Amino acid sequence: MELELARLKDEAIQTLKGVTVASELEPFRVKFLGRKGGSLTGVMRQLAEVPKEDRPRLGQLANEIKKEVTALFEQKKQDLSAGQTPQKQSELDLSLPGRSLPFGKLHPVTQVMEEICSIFEGMGFAVAEGPDVETDHYNFEALNIPKHHPARDMHDTFYVSDSILLRTHTSNMQARIMENMEPPLRYIAPGKVYRCDSDITHTPMFVQVEGFLVDRDVSFADLKGVLTSFLHHMFSQDLAVRFRPSFFPFTEPSAEVDIACVICGGEGCRVCKRTGWIEILGAGLIDPEVMKMVGYDPDEYSGFAFGLGVERIAMLKYGINDIRLYYENDLRFLSQF
Ligand code: FA5
Repeated sequence: MELELARLKDEAIQTLKGVTVASELEPFRVKFLGRKGGSLTGVMRQLAEVPKEDRPRLGQLANEIKKEVTALFEQKKQDLSAGQTPQKQSELDLSLPGRSLPFGKLHPVTQVMEEICSIFEGMGFAVAEGPDVETDHYNFEALNIPKHHPARDMHDTFYVSDSILLRTHTSNMQARIMENMEPPLRYIAPGKVYRCDSDITHTPMFVQVEGFLVDRDVSFADLKGVLTSFLHHMFSQDLAVRFRPSFFPFTEPSAEVDIACVICGGEGCRVCKRTGWIEILGAGLIDPEVMKMVGYDPDEYSGFAFGLGVERIAMLKYGINDIRLYYENDLRFLSQF
């Protein structure tokens, strides 16, 4: 019996070492310690059959072995409920510094767009957003650009169907807002726009911020004042700005605004196409025809509108010489901003 007890002890200890998941504990308990079929309990029952004089010694030995195996079993139970096997505990080095996750950042174009919006918000403009997938009506017709108007060619439009397209500018928001509200109005509308266009200063998807103001007695001087003040806030007080006569069917008179190329300091480089200037926005006084289409009386109200190219401003602000870098998803480039 002594030998049988020693063998059972060894077997129980070896089996317990191999227990690595909590679900193996109960089968172990039933096999070795169970009241009915447990092997240790079974051996103890045989005590009645051994000679009387050996009984106390063997009884004591059997009890000690059962106690020891029970204690090892309880310890294993605790280890597994803490989720660690004794072996894993020894592998853990709690003094190691933790691994920190890298922080994400806003895309540089988003950062610049937010800066632009906050400057205009400071001048009292409210922010509105509209759809990227737009009807021909809001993108063109309501802006005095009927079908077959030559100005449509300037936009290199992505059409979804005959009457649905990807908006080519944020000016779609002019009619959308004006037809639902009465002047005075002072709005900016940031968002993505799409044109079939790509080179170092053009991308097929880019971001514009539209702005417009409608009230009584609004003049071109107001437009110049607001835009110059914006550009001085965005860049620096001594930035050279020029308004160049231009044409948009929805503004009259119209202008394009250039700033001195900050890449070459106005000397001429490949970004400014050797002119020393970079065009960053289109603007003008809202055409009376557009006013009439949304039900405003052009004799009572006047207004100005402008549309800024955010990537162009971001290029100049950060000294980037190819606009396409913003959209190549190279984290080495993007994480610098
Ligand atoms: C317009 O989109 C007019 N809707 C702007 C406007 C609004 C005029 C309100 C009058 C009143 P234009 O096509 O010039 O105009 O674009 C405006 C600006 O968007 C440009 O000055 C330029 O900075 C930027 N831009 C134009 N095309 C691209 C392009 N493919 N990639 C990046 N930026 C562009």
